[in-house]
Amino acid sequence: SAAEKGGYDYFMLKEIAEQPKAVADTLLGRIDGSGSLTLDEVRIPPRVLREIDKIVVVACGTAFHAGMIAKYAIEHWTRIPCEVELASEFRYRDPILDAQTLVIAISQSGETMDTLMALRHAREQGSKVLAICNTNGSTIPRESDAVLYTHAGPEVAVASTKAFLTQLVACYLVALYLGQVRGTKWGDEIRAVIRDLSSISGAVERVLGTMEPVRELARTLASKNTVLFLGRHVGYPVALEGALKLKELAYMHAEGFAAGELKHGPIALIEEDLPVVVVVPSPRGRSVLHDKIVSNIQEIRARGARTIVIAEEGDEAVVPYADHLVRIPATPTLLQPLVATVPLQVFACELATARGNEVDQPRNLAKSVTVE
Ligand code: G6P
Repeated sequence: SAAEKGGYDYFMLKEIAEQPKAVADTLLGRIDGSGSLTLDEVRIPPRVLREIDKIVVVACGTAFHAGMIAKYAIEHWTRIPCEVELASEFRYRDPILDAQTLVIAISQSGETMDTLMALRHAREQGSKVLAICNTNGSTIPRESDAVLYTHAGPEVAVASTKAFLTQLVACYLVALYLGQVRGTKWGDEIRAVIRDLSSISGAVERVLGTMEPVRELARTLASKNTVLFLGRHVGYPVALEGALKLKELAYMHAEGFAAGELKHGPIALIEEDLPVVVVVPSPRGRSVLHDKIVSNIQEIRARGARTIVIAEEGDEAVVPYADHLVRIPATPTLLQPLVATVPLQVFACELATARGNEVDQPRNLAKSVTVE
């Protein structure tokens, strides 16, 4: 009913709007007064966590994209090698697992069969499994050694939005917690990131307040057949997520590419007026990547692409090459997906509506897939 949707036309719109609160709720009670993490709920003793020598993240769909971003955060903040793998591929390739491996299973529903079978396989090999899950008492957390719940609240729309943002928060918390427990050399940076995380909910709120031009743009693209997405570093999984949302909701051909790979193939796809969404890393921090992506934008625009550029406030270098410019607040590099994903969700939702599609219940999809 309309009341259940809180006055919004679709659950997806309501859930997009709930993201600042979902993010804040997922941090709540997990940072103490001194700015350290208190994840007592992760019932794997610090002694065991100090001995972990490899981390493997398994998940499906949108949760897999959260896992890809987790890899960047985990390796940077903990220096523990981390792999991320589609849950449906994992157990069939005889992966190398032992008691020193920590497997992180990410699932909104906690019922996805592919993810469940992957974690069962990991536990059979003696690995510890930590679930990141949004559904209390569901199967995946029940079968794991520990669970860190995301506090997104119930997510009804099939296409995941607020659960994804809270999965990112949970992944950052796990990475920072491992860094804290193991006392890595990034101690000061970790404390600073914990402070930045505390203000990120406000940044998400600000993005939501500036989405009208994105909706307008989406409506003008309703008759297109293809949209491409480019990003690099943590912007690469964001590009994949933007493309997945368009496939799920707008039933359009959409692909995400790592921007550095453009020259190795995808650039052949660029043609006159093809919409290409580019997620631009911060010009601060890893500025080399920023400059390379600006060159990519120039290259595709010179070949006729219609560039839709998502860039930090104050990033002036992109302005001459952006046919459409979407501004996001400045954040530390690794946290950018929390703000950069939001315009892509709004974009896909509006395109789907403009194409007359059922936003909350896309054809052929289910909210949770309980078969392998
Ligand atoms: C289904 C949904 C996706 C979701 C995926 C993983 O395919 O349609 O939106 O990302 O399952 O779901 P989970 O509940 O494990 O996060």
